[in-house]
Amino acid sequence: MKFEDEIKRRRTFGIISHPDAGKTTLTEKLLLYGGAIQEAGAVKSNKIKKTATSDFMEIEKQRGISVATSVMGFEYKGKQVNILDTPGHQDFAEDTYRTLTAVDSVIVVVDVAKGVEAQTEKLVQVCRMRDTPIIIFINKLDREGKDAFDLMDEIEQKLDLTLCPLSWPIGMGQRFKGVYNMWEKNLQLISGASKTKIEQAVAIEDLADENLDKLIGNTDADLLREEVELVTEVYPSFNAQEYLAAQQCPVFFGSALNNFGVRELLDCFVEIAPPPQPKKAEERLIKPNEDKFSGFVFKIHANIDPNHRNRIAFLKIVSGKFERNTNYLHTRLNKNFKFSSPTAFMASKKSVIDEAFPGDIVGIPDNGNLRIGDTLTQGEKLHYKGIPAFSPEHFRFINNADPLKSKQLAKGIDQLMDEGVAQLFTLKQNGRKIIGTVGALQYEVIQYRLEHEYNAKCSYENYPAYKACWVESSNHEQLAEFSRIKQRYLADDKFGRLVFMADSSFSLQMTKEKFPDIKFHLKSEF
Ligand code: G4P
Repeated sequence: MKFEDEIKRRRTFGIISHPDAGKTTLTEKLLLYGGAIQEAGAVKSNKIKKTATSDFMEIEKQRGISVATSVMGFEYKGKQVNILDTPGHQDFAEDTYRTLTAVDSVIVVVDVAKGVEAQTEKLVQVCRMRDTPIIIFINKLDREGKDAFDLMDEIEQKLDLTLCPLSWPIGMGQRFKGVYNMWEKNLQLISGASKTKIEQAVAIEDLADENLDKLIGNTDADLLREEVELVTEVYPSFNAQEYLAAQQCPVFFGSALNNFGVRELLDCFVEIAPPPQPKKAEERLIKPNEDKFSGFVFKIHANIDPNHRNRIAFLKIVSGKFERNTNYLHTRLNKNFKFSSPTAFMASKKSVIDEAFPGDIVGIPDNGNLRIGDTLTQGEKLHYKGIPAFSPEHFRFINNADPLKSKQLAKGIDQLMDEGVAQLFTLKQNGRKIIGTVGALQYEVIQYRLEHEYNAKCSYENYPAYKACWVESSNHEQLAEFSRIKQRYLADDKFGRLVFMADSSFSLQMTKEKFPDIKFHLKSEF
C-alpha cells in the first residue's frame, strides 16, 4: 500500500467518560466489531480490564483497577483503528491528559441518567484546548434517563460544545424502542423485556413514511416526527469540516451493553473521524506525509517485570515511516538510538513490528533514556510541543522513611516523575519536596512502587495547597515584589519553572488582584 494511503486509513482516538458511564463496555463492543476480541461478555467478568488494558503494574493486579492507559488496535472496513484507552478510575492519573495529546479525535461517553459529570468536563476541556474533534455517545438508553433535549442543553452548556444529533431516541428505559438514525436515514429498533433483541434496520428516508407508524405505533411516530423536526430547527445540520475543526460534535444515542447503536457509531466514526493530523514542534509544523520519520513519547509504562527495571515508552508517530533497527535521533539527548524490538498493540497481545506509520502507537522497550515529551526524529532537531502539566488536585510533602536509602529514594522519585505518575515541586525556601497528584490513590501507588522497585521507603505529610500556578510576567518589579512577599509559597517544578503554591482560592484571587501584571496559569503550557 502507498505511504499516503497508509496514513489516510488510520484513525487514532481515545474514549473518555466519567467512571461507570460505559467506556469499557463500549471499547469492548468496538473491539468485537474489529475482531480484536472474540468473546462477548468479557466486560462482565472484568476480563477486558485485565487483559486488553494494562496489567503491567503489580499494584493494578492487586487492586483490580486500571491506573494506567493502554492502546488497542484493530482493522475495520479497511481502516486501521487505534484506541488509546484512558484510565476509568476516579483517581485517574495524569496519563489521561497526556494520552489526549496523542489522539486525533475522541468519543465522549455520557450516561443518559447522570448527564455530564465532573471528569468528563475536565477531559473535554483538554480536548477543547487542542481543538480535538469530538463525537458524543449517549449511553444506557435502556434505562430511564434525562429527557433528550434537556440532556443536549446540559451538554452544550457544561461542555461548551455545539451539538449536532445524528441519531434520535424513541422512548427511553422500558419504553425505549430504538433510534432514528439521521446519518444513515434508517430506523433501528430494539425489543424484549431487557432490550436485547435488535431488529434489522429499516430504511426510512422520509419520516412522513407511513411505514413508521406501522413499526412504532402512531403515538411514537408522531412524537418522533415532532422531535426530529425540532432537532433540525434547533441544531445545525452535519458539516464534516466543522466537525473536523472541533466546532460541531455529532451525537449518537445507544446502549453499549446491549450493543445497540455501536455499529452505527463505528461506521460513522471511520468515515468522518480525522486521519493523523499535522503536529506543532517548537521549530515548525510537521505534516504526517513528510518523508522523514518523527514522533514523540506521550507515556511511559514502567516495570513490566520488576526484576528487570524495564519500561515501555509509548511513541506516537507523527510523520514518515518508523522502522525497526534504524538509527533515530533522540533530540533531547542529541544522541542516536535504534530500537530492536518495537511493539504494536493489537488488543490483548503485543507483537514486534518492522514498521509503523503516522497515527500508530509503538511501544519501545527502554531502560531510562526516554522521558514523556521526548522527540525522536530521522535527524532533524525537532522538539514536539504540547504535553502540558496541569495543576494537581492533591499535595503532600514526601519524606525519606529510611535514612540509609536516600539515594534510592531520590532515583525512584526522579524516575516515577519522568513517567508522569505525579508532579514534583521543590519549595524554594527550604528545598522540601512536594508531590502533587490528580487523585489520592497515586500516593499509594508511588509508595508501593518506591518500595518494590527502588527499595526505598517514604512517608507523606499533608501540604495544604489549593492549586499549583505556573507564574508568568514581564514586569520584573512586580515579580520581585511578589517573590519577596510570597516566598514561602514559591516552588520550582521538575523543569525549574516558577510555581506559586496557592493555599486557597481566596488567596489566589487576592494575589491576582495585588499583582495584575503577573499571570497565574493552572497549566504549564501557556
Ligand atoms: P466505565 O468503563 O466507563 O467505568 O464503565 P463500564 O463499561 O465498566 O460500565 C459501568 C457499568 O455500566 C457496568 O455495570 C456496565 O455493565 C454498565 N453499562 C454499560 N453500558 C450500559 C448500557 O448500555 N446499559 C446499561 N443498563 N448498563 C450499561 P456494573 O454493574 O458496574 O458492572 P458489571 O457487573 O455489569 O460488569
